[in-house]
Amino acid sequence: MTDQSQPPEADIPVKPTSASRTTLSHIMTGNDTNLLGTVHGGVIMKLVDDAAGAVAGRHSGGPAVTASMDEMVFLEPVRVGDLVHVRAQVNWTGRSSMEVGVRVMAERWNESTPAQQVGSAYLVFAAVDEEGKPRRVPQVAPETERDKRRYQEAQIRRTHRLARRRAIKELREQRAAEGIDD
Ligand SMILES: CC(C)(COP(=O)(O)OP(=O)(O)OC[C@H]1O[C@@H](n2cnc3c(N)ncnc32)[C@H](O)[C@@H]1OP(=O)(O)O)[C@@H](O)C(=O)NCCC(=O)NCCS
Repeated sequence: MTDQSQPPEADIPVKPTSASRTTLSHIMTGNDTNLLGTVHGGVIMKLVDDAAGAVAGRHSGGPAVTASMDEMVFLEPVRVGDLVHVRAQVNWTGRSSMEVGVRVMAERWNESTPAQQVGSAYLVFAAVDEEGKPRRVPQVAPETERDKRRYQEAQIRRTHRLARRRAIKELREQRAAEGIDD
């Protein structure tokens, strides 16, 4: 649990979104493929986690761990030779957690078309201290209208995540109280 004895976040200077925005780029190789010959989804998920982790570390100024990854969407297949750009930014900050939004773009190796969006995801990272305990993070200051929209959308996702976790916890407690053992 976060140390509630710590003072409120107000004494940590806010950080603008642009201060930690990061893009990782990677050329896909034959080692990255699935049985269909296209790039394995897990390879893209690793890149997404790497980019988001870099952003979370930059924003929080220290180590941060992945707490959850949700809404990982694959829109189009990625192929060997494609140059994949994974763009990540902090969408929202809480006390010790940050939602990082990630967009995956692919430049097709055999086409001269602009990079195409092939995926996206939202990850929650918790900043941790040397003992692995959650530590406070600077609040993010959205700069552009797009950043502000992403902040508001992240708040909606946060509300839904908490409500879902609470509802499932209550259901499990209720079933346990009824003596149901599954
Ligand atoms: C994430 C972790 C640090 C949370 O620790 P905890 O003791 O549960 O601490 P808290 O309940 O205070 O949660 C800390 C923050 O993370 C958020 N959080 C925790 N679990 C979450 C989840 N599953 N989804 C979204 N947010 C989550 C909390 O809402 C809280 O946010 P806030 O401080 O901004 O309000 C802890 O569960 C952990 O270390 N997990 C393993 C992480 C890891 O190793 N990742 C790599 C996997 S190989």
